[in-house]
Amino acid sequence: MRVFVTREIPEASLRRLAERLPEARIDVHRGAEPLAPDALAAAARGASALVCTLSDRIDAALLGALAPPLRVVSTFAVGTENIDLAVARRLGVRVANTPGVLTEATAEIAVALLLDAARRVSEGDRFTRAGRFERWGPLAHLGHPVYGRTLGIVGAGRIGFRVAATLHRGFDCTVLVHTRTHPASGARDPERDWSALGAEFVSLDELLGRSDFVSLHCPLTAETRHLIDARALARMRSHAVLVNTARGPVVDEAALVAALRERAIAAAGLDVYEDEPRLAPGLAELENAVLAPHVGSATHETREAMGRLCVEAVALELAGRPAPNRVV
Ligand code: DGY
Repeated sequence: MRVFVTREIPEASLRRLAERLPEARIDVHRGAEPLAPDALAAAARGASALVCTLSDRIDAALLGALAPPLRVVSTFAVGTENIDLAVARRLGVRVANTPGVLTEATAEIAVALLLDAARRVSEGDRFTRAGRFERWGPLAHLGHPVYGRTLGIVGAGRIGFRVAATLHRGFDCTVLVHTRTHPASGARDPERDWSALGAEFVSLDELLGRSDFVSLHCPLTAETRHLIDARALARMRSHAVLVNTARGPVVDEAALVAALRERAIAAAGLDVYEDEPRLAPGLAELENAVLAPHVGSATHETREAMGRLCVEAVALELAGRPAPNRVV
């Protein structure tokens, strides 16, 4: 039996995989670059399980080429938009992801981007390093406060909840939520007790019009692609900040560049991009954009926890037992 791992994941996870599957041959692609589709298909041929990342396209062609013997795809991510789940289901390939373990880490990055963009921290850092800090000024580097303002959360999942709880409890923010799928279901989940935050469920338009900060936490689906387009940006307040730690294509990045350039909104904090790792033309030149290199889950502890979940799912599914984190 063979397991193919498309990128280097924490060594402890690879050791665990070897312990859990002593008979298996485990091959790891250790290059810095993800494999191109053809190279991935060739490298993974004959594998019963594939440990992949969000950079790999696990589409119908790849699944068709690998299954059988492929039985399990375990992704080192919570997002599964890079995997054709319908085809996996049809071919009897189980898919697992890493929910839960990256909630706090991703929420931390969303809050960090929000504070940075509102108070212009990275912009000030560039200014200071460039030797341009010559004197304190009463009107210099003014941003907008976070304390006591209105936060709009798009997507009522665990990460959105954690961001809302942090900013409500720590910064006295009023919370608005928009979700397309389950408007009030979060209220019944003890891990997502929106009512304890006094959160108000509203339409997207209302959220955009009332929020000082809009933070995106919805999955990427056909419905959410370009959810934040030129029209949505035009509804936001001119001092508002947009934060995206979800998936790049949820935002029309060209429209965002135009809105930031014209100061139709004050700033954006982004961890994800529409055509990652490329940036839309003009984005990198904007002082009012804080740009992180997709680091939502990038802590040692979180990546190790993701690795553990990922390899455990492979071991369970290959043993014919359902992984608790099975998606299909
Ligand atoms: C995920 O798991 O989907 C994250 O984007 C990885 O950091």
